[in-house]
Amino acid sequence: MGVERAVRDTALLAAAFRAAEARRPRPRLTDPYARLFLADGPGHPGALRAGGEQVVERTRIVDGLLDAHPGTIVNLGAGYCARPYRLDLAGRPVVELDSAQVIATKERVLAGHTPRGPVRRIGLDLRDHDALARALATVDGAPVLVTEGVLPYLPADGIAALARVLARPGAVWLTDVVTVTSARAMAAVAPGLTVYGLDSLTPFEDAGWTVTDYRPLPVPGPFRPGAGSRDVVDGVLALRAP
Ligand SMILES: C[S@@+](CC[C@H](N)C(=O)[O-])C[C@H]1O[C@@H](n2cnc3c(N)ncnc32)[C@H](O)[C@@H]1O
Repeated sequence: MGVERAVRDTALLAAAFRAAEARRPRPRLTDPYARLFLADGPGHPGALRAGGEQVVERTRIVDGLLDAHPGTIVNLGAGYCARPYRLDLAGRPVVELDSAQVIATKERVLAGHTPRGPVRRIGLDLRDHDALARALATVDGAPVLVTEGVLPYLPADGIAALARVLARPGAVWLTDVVTVTSARAMAAVAPGLTVYGLDSLTPFEDAGWTVTDYRPLPVPGPFRPGAGSRDVVDGVLALRAP
């Protein structure tokens, strides 16, 4: 197993959007580390032109939700997220998981910078559930799990399997979700990238997770509401483990 290059490159894209945010008249967040990763470009240049409203908003929302949920932060598919450097997390430990290549690049680029709290990084493929379970076993207490911009690269059955591995008593999971329509819009501007969307929250709910919070995200393209109040709409969820 190994995370495909096109998927790994989305970490660059997210960093490019956060770097671009700094050039807005009133930036919604400040990430001075993002531009450090961009020496080789944004990863998916076509997607860069599509704008990064969702990326910046979801980062801002997750920043806020982390304040409301104490505990060790386990960031799965952390990419080039610089939260331990740009935020005061009050000494909370952060464990960052991503492909070995992304972790190696991150360590190299941030080598001269000091995080504001303890950070540990583990290279793995999130689809390797034994490796993931071993990584989670190294975390004390009930973690706050984060998947930010990660689930669109897993099919629904992959999310369901991940949801089962992550379900630990007391755990909280902060994640964005996107619809099938939004996934198609994302795939259209990023050739070579397979993007999946969700049409229900069943993959979480079947593993015992309960939604405790929902924050809407801006939707790319025209918004097409579904037929029922339980339809998925792009957003950030907080879920509580069984
Ligand atoms: C869109 S980026 C988001 C990165 C970061 N969470 C952020 O918001 O800036 C998606 C990240 O998920 C990681 N990722 C996706 N699938 C993965 C997998 N199966 N195993 C490990 N990492 C994965 C990619 O390598 C990439 O860093």
